[in-house]
Amino acid sequence: MIKQELFAEAVEEVSRYFSFLSDMGCRGLDCSAGALEIIKDWGHVKEVHAETMGSIYDESKNCRRCKLSESRKHVVFGEGDPKNARLMFIGEGPGPEGNETGRPFTGEAGELLTKIIQAINLTREIVYICNAVKCMPSGERKFLPEEISACHVFLKRQIQVVKPDFICTLGSVSTAALLKTSRPIALLRGRFHDYRGIQVMPTYHPAFLVDNPEKKREVWEDMKQLMAAYRK
Ligand code: URA
Repeated sequence: MIKQELFAEAVEEVSRYFSFLSDMGCRGLDCSAGALEIIKDWGHVKEVHAETMGSIYDESKNCRRCKLSESRKHVVFGEGDPKNARLMFIGEGPGPEGNETGRPFTGEAGELLTKIIQAINLTREIVYICNAVKCMPSGERKFLPEEISACHVFLKRQIQVVKPDFICTLGSVSTAALLKTSRPIALLRGRFHDYRGIQVMPTYHPAFLVDNPEKKREVWEDMKQLMAAYRK
């Protein structure tokens, strides 16, 4: 179509629009300051407010997605630096100490995790630590698949907020929850896997190391790889 035809078509369209306004009873255009103020933002997309860790936590405190909510004392949500952490540690779920304190990894396994973090020249305050499941089951039992999947929505959103470069999954529960695999941790550890563009290093759970100290050497190998990539 040549330029004149395009122009004529545009004029006709504008003319049709004014006729339509006239038919609707419009007798002029309101270009007052008030009208301009009202229409100034039309067509602009409002800023989308990103979710914060605080808002996810508030939601988790009232969670009734699974039966663990009936017996828990505290939701053990997570701690560390949600804004700047480049490395996130994800455990299994709270033990009795966490259920009492509301903090992840506070018992014997927690002490070992703190030492592991210090050994790679980081601190609990500058990484982010949480669990695949946020509430403790009553009695000594494993987490059920429905409890892990009910809680996954919180874990996913925590990862989205932190946006870490690296995740270290501790043990088979968090590794399976994130990587959607049932392969044993012994076959998954020792190399990076991908979770939505984030490098994931699975390793043995600190509680397992308490009972199997000879496995610490392998965890150290995993941490060395993690640190080399982190410092690159
Ligand atoms: N405490 C936690 O918070 N997570 C674990 O996986 C074990 C103990």
